[in-house]
Amino acid sequence: MTGASRLTDLVSPTLLTGRAVFVTGGGSGINYAIADAFASVGANVAICGRTPEKLDAAAETLRRHGTRILAAPADVRDAEALDAAVDLAATEFGGLDTVVAGAAGNFYAPAESISPNGFRTVVDIDLLGSFHTARAAFDHLKVSHGSILFVSAGQAYLSFSHQAHVGAAKAGIENLMANLALEWGRHGIRSNSIVPGPIEGTEGMKRLAEPVGTDAWTAAVPLGRFGRAEEIAAMAVVLSSPLASYITGARVVVDGGLGLSGLGALSRTIAEAVTASRTEKEASKP
Ligand code: HXC
Repeated sequence: MTGASRLTDLVSPTLLTGRAVFVTGGGSGINYAIADAFASVGANVAICGRTPEKLDAAAETLRRHGTRILAAPADVRDAEALDAAVDLAATEFGGLDTVVAGAAGNFYAPAESISPNGFRTVVDIDLLGSFHTARAAFDHLKVSHGSILFVSAGQAYLSFSHQAHVGAAKAGIENLMANLALEWGRHGIRSNSIVPGPIEGTEGMKRLAEPVGTDAWTAAVPLGRFGRAEEIAAMAVVLSSPLASYITGARVVVDGGLGLSGLGALSRTIAEAVTASRTEKEASKP
């Protein structure tokens, strides 16, 4: 498969017809692409995010696939609001087959000066938000023998400068993914994660590439290019489909090989650039 192939040229456009999917962070970026891929193979999709207007616009675009699309606003940090959003989707669609815990937050910050609230905010969105999503979906997935998919990151297992908060949150997600696979397997629920590499056009990469530019990142990727959101989405569909019916507890790395060589050199370059820009900002303060 080349990155440019359309999913429906490769798998049946009815692969997941009638299935119901709930995607957090589904209003933009990788998670929007995941929602789009599910809808393109026949699934009804609920997208969840903090900003109703953004969700409504994304939902309208997704409706071109002809499946049922629901905008379900909620902040993943708010367990009650998320419960309500998940229940709404399950009621609308008559059940739930897959939840994707994709909502995340990220910024560079040195470990010694990030505020406790900054650290907590990322852990709250990424880790607690993922837990809230899985927990909200449990009763529905038990009925459907469905699956959970976590969107993780290489920071979970590769140390990366100025990303201590993100690494802690994503490592927690990986552990949660494995524990849920263990605990909920007896209910027929599968639990897996995807680790995206640098994906072009996403808010996450805009933030991560900003200090050093994209070339330094590309140079660190064995396949020599950024990935496309559709390449993550294709794996999300596969892992949530009967094609993966015996896969649970798996971390699937879709990063062009970025993690193979470790991130030491890239991480050092970024640390220097972030430190230089912070020093410059400090110096220009009146
Ligand atoms: C240091 C920062 C900071 C920064 C925020 N904080 N930005 N600290 N450097 N650049 C601190 C604030 O000072 C505050 O602490 C605390 O974090 C909460 O900030 P708020 O702005 O009030 O939080 P909130 O409005 O909830 O916004 C959450 C956010 C924001 C994570 C900070 O950036 C956001 O909403 N991001 C969503 C979009 C996003 O990040 N997308 C990328 C995801 S990609 P104090 O102490 O001052 O109160 C991704 C992939 C990772 O995660 C891996 C890719 C390979």
